[in-house]
Amino acid sequence: MGVPNWGDKTVWTGDNLPIMRGMNSASVDLIYLDPPFNSHANYAAPIGSKAAGAAFKDTWTLTDLDVEWLNLIEGKHPQLWRSIQAAAAPSYKSYLVYMAIRLLEMRRLLKPTGSIYLHCDPTMSHYLKVMMDAIFGHQNFRNEIIWAYAGGGDPPQGFPPETRHNPAVFQRGGSADLQRSASSLWTTQHNWTSSHRSRGHAQNGISPGWNPGQ
Ligand SMILES: C[S@@+](CC[C@H](N)C(=O)[O-])C[C@H]1O[C@@H](n2cnc3c(N)ncnc32)[C@H](O)[C@@H]1O
Repeated sequence: MGVPNWGDKTVWTGDNLPIMRGMNSASVDLIYLDPPFNSHANYAAPIGSKAAGAAFKDTWTLTDLDVEWLNLIEGKHPQLWRSIQAAAAPSYKSYLVYMAIRLLEMRRLLKPTGSIYLHCDPTMSHYLKVMMDAIFGHQNFRNEIIWAYAGGGDPPQGFPPETRHNPAVFQRGGSADLQRSASSLWTTQHNWTSSHRSRGHAQNGISPGWNPGQ
């Protein structure tokens, strides 16, 4: 196992990619991510709120940099590359490249016994699941959790997908105590979202001068 070169309860702000690159391999037990969903919208905290100034972009355009990343991924991770090629539109590809290079880094950081929970909605969840199969191994997929937001659990008719979000759970090795980790995760997410509504602005502008996930 890697020795953490970061302190317990450390909070970093900014793009997680360079931050993760500075962290030792196999040093993390649990990763939970609630990334952009490719919602075709940009978000900014209201002026005057505690989070004012925080913003993030969730609109995507395929750039030359994305194509460079794709070429690198094609050589190093062909199965992952094929999963990104399935994208229905160039903008989807851009989003998936952004996610792929970060998920590769997360795989490097996870201990062999570690677990990763990826929270997403049905816009991209099917692509992300296939990408995670390629990165973490389909045999390491543990489960998919569907949750309903408070007040939206019992629709009078039909099934409104916008009230359901899906964290997919993968584990690098060993057996998962899914029940316990899922409920503590929910509590963590609930507490976290209640108290941390602000986050730094982050971009996908980092050049691929490295071997993703190596
Ligand atoms: C779907 S929101 C989730 C927000 C949070 N979980 C909540 O409920 O308030 C996605 C978050 O990811 C952050 N984000 C986007 N790209 C990022 C990156 N490269 N590194 C770190 N955070 C990023 C955004 O700033 C945004 O806060």
